[in-house]
Amino acid sequence: MLLLNPGPVTLTERVRQSLLQTDLCHRESEFFDLQEEARTRLLSLYELDPAEWQAVLMTGSGTAAVESMIAALVPEHGKLLVIENGVYGERITQIASQYRIPHETVKHDWMEAPDLGRIAAQLDAAGDFTHVAVIHHETTTGRLNDLQALAAVCRERGVRLLVDGVSSFGAEAIDFADSAIAAVAATANKCLHGVPGASFVVVRREALAQAASRTYYLDLGRLAKLQEQRNTPFTPSVHAYYALVEALREMADAGGWRARHAHYAALAEQARVGLAGRGMACVLAPEQSSVVLRAYRLPNGVSYAQLHDALKARGFVIYAGQGGLSAELFRISTMGNIQPADIDRLLQGFTELTR
Ligand SMILES: Cc1ncc(COP(=O)(O)O)c(C=O)c1O
Repeated sequence: MLLLNPGPVTLTERVRQSLLQTDLCHRESEFFDLQEEARTRLLSLYELDPAEWQAVLMTGSGTAAVESMIAALVPEHGKLLVIENGVYGERITQIASQYRIPHETVKHDWMEAPDLGRIAAQLDAAGDFTHVAVIHHETTTGRLNDLQALAAVCRERGVRLLVDGVSSFGAEAIDFADSAIAAVAATANKCLHGVPGASFVVVRREALAQAASRTYYLDLGRLAKLQEQRNTPFTPSVHAYYALVEALREMADAGGWRARHAHYAALAEQARVGLAGRGMACVLAPEQSSVVLRAYRLPNGVSYAQLHDALKARGFVIYAGQGGLSAELFRISTMGNIQPADIDRLLQGFTELTR
């Protein structure tokens, strides 16, 4: 069965085998070697200077890392502007509300790109925002939000950017050199090709220095401090860390994030062109889309359930549209151990179903 949903991904055999390593106590030096290797490799993936940046690991899914980032990095007297153009932007607003973090939102239709003019106007109107939160790749629609342009708006105003990179880290360009970017939250089981259970925040050390402590388990400042000392406050998902480290080694061997970007881009285009030829248009143009996932219109007269079940019978798990989009769209992710021949077989499956 090949997973074409946006994580967890189809594993390579190398990563799958890494789960079978020796049992490990998380208070032994071997575990801290593993933790250090994961942290070091996460920084070197984007050539980040460890004097400026820290990778902070945690046990939990991508949402844990996003929650940890938001709860810590908007300081005690800070204020957050959340950019919403899909499910995951809306989730950040819910997190901010639950922690009672002062915030406002810039709402967009799920099909829209962030409106930089409206964002700048809202920042300027209040004048007291310290942070902006945005989803890099909004997985709801497959849109890659323009991080660079948004970072420029933030930089001009001395506001810091908190990025949900859960479905982009490892496969899309992120300009960490831009001083506006304070942190990026992500997970092991999407573009990195690890297993669910480990997630992380890549954060500037200067941002950590001002971190608030609003949560116990996900306290980013405490996790960061203890991990710097080869320590951990709780029992981590040791096996997920094994897989993360092996996945990062494998990725480095294969040419890093740029090679992964190129691989995904080729698969995404193969799927887009093939589905367009079978009457299923991609909802966004390639230049607005991530290489990671794309959303397509359901064929006339075919429900998502029919399409899903028929493709599953042929060995492929596709993904529904979210919320109100579930009646119109389906999504295909090309993350994980997927090759061009797999997309050929998938397209063959579509041909049989829609004929
Ligand atoms: C952009 C984005 N943020 C957050 C999440 C939530 O991740 P998780 O389900 O691992 O908690 C997802 C999941 O697909 C995502 O795509």
